[in-house]
Amino acid sequence: MNVVVVNNFDRMSEEAAKLMVAQIRSKPNSVLGLATGSTPLGVYRLLAEYHQRGVDFSSVTTFNLDEYVGLAPAHPQSYRHYMEENLFSKVNVRKENTHVPSGTAPDLQAECERYEQAIRQVGGIDLQLLGIGSNAHIGFNEPGTPFGSTTQVVDLTESTIKDNARFFASPDEVPTQAVSMGIKSIMRAKNIVLIAYGGSKAEAIYAALRGPVTPKVPASVLQLHPSVTFVVDQAAGSKL
Ligand code: F6R
Repeated sequence: MNVVVVNNFDRMSEEAAKLMVAQIRSKPNSVLGLATGSTPLGVYRLLAEYHQRGVDFSSVTTFNLDEYVGLAPAHPQSYRHYMEENLFSKVNVRKENTHVPSGTAPDLQAECERYEQAIRQVGGIDLQLLGIGSNAHIGFNEPGTPFGSTTQVVDLTESTIKDNARFFASPDEVPTQAVSMGIKSIMRAKNIVLIAYGGSKAEAIYAALRGPVTPKVPASVLQLHPSVTFVVDQAAGSKL
């Protein structure tokens, strides 16, 4: 595993954006796996700038990691809405090539299977961008999720609901379930870039990189992947 420790959030965003642009330049029809949350915001801002300077997203396909159950695409806190706001509307990716699981499908189980199938159909993910939860979740795969899991409906833990309450008017409004790509779906990506900043992630980064590989620390599974780069700022890397 590559571990890159940089000074701050902006440098973390630059490093990750560079890796993503290199991926698109080497394979214009790349399949990118994307994350939401506060960590990738700088990466998406830079990708929009790269697009202004000529990087072409017209053949790129994207798959997001997750979506809240019960939030329609137009809901301001839905991950589809986040992606439209922060990336899709700023680059020339084709709408039909952008995929976010549906949190409102009438049959969520069928939606999970459809999502896995859609990833398979395009030949799998070339580069997966990940954030990490303070409890070391990846996607919404909370501690204890089996490593063999594929896209599924998951219950969010109290700590994740608390972490994400900052985006909602009150903690009661945070959905308690999500549709999330599984650990196995993530591990099938050819390359993975995990980004993290801030002291609240230091414990999770340490456990993921230096601790035992265990479902109790979902991100520790990445130690088993052949091509992973962690890009963390000094605070997130402070326990390494
Ligand atoms: C989001 C996702 C989550 C986040 C993680 C960190 O699509 O899959 O795993 O990456 O919760 O969130 P932030 O970046 O808000 O700290």
